[in-house]
Amino acid sequence: MSVSKKLKLGILVSGRGSNLQAIIDACEKNKIDAEVSVVISNNPGAFAMERAKKHNIPIEVVDAKNPEPEILQTLGKYRVDLVCLAGFMKILSPAFVKAYPAKIINIHPALLPAFPGLHAQKQALDAGVKMTGATVHFVDEGCDTGPIILQKSVPVLENDSLESLTQRILEAEHEIYPQAIQRIATGSLKF
Ligand code: GRF
Repeated sequence: MSVSKKLKLGILVSGRGSNLQAIIDACEKNKIDAEVSVVISNNPGAFAMERAKKHNIPIEVVDAKNPEPEILQTLGKYRVDLVCLAGFMKILSPAFVKAYPAKIINIHPALLPAFPGLHAQKQALDAGVKMTGATVHFVDEGCDTGPIILQKSVPVLENDSLESLTQRILEAEHEIYPQAIQRIATGSLKF
């Protein structure tokens, strides 16, 4: 496939960047028809930035308090087709979401609509559910409320700690995030 046909991704991060890594790996192995054009962080210390650097992907650090103008400018500069939130710890304003209609997606560590918001893994443990998982969804103006693209369920085991459950969910996240991007890249899915 020619490079020009690849979906240009702009990945927004704030921290560790393991989902970013899964997306980079899927692109590099040609598992998905996409390329990471830029990684944008509102946290200059995010480990995700080191991951991007290692793969020679452009990085941009934006203002932590008011990141949106710089993010919009950067997305335009790199002609980004799809914005992927990957552990980006700031809720985007309705104006931002409107600027990229049906072109922003997010990964959440639960089977939405269950356990939206922060600490979804702890919410699942506290609720005593036997099954939780991961969700990739389009971002709308709500918090974790947009249309669901893909989900993968993950069992909660008897002796699970927060760490062990978080890790099991993370493995599911790394599987479904690239798959969801591929669905959009091939045009088999629209919002
Ligand atoms: C993941 O659990 C993701 O579902 C949530 O934030 C975490 C980010 O992890 N939105 P990482 O930075 O991709 O490792």
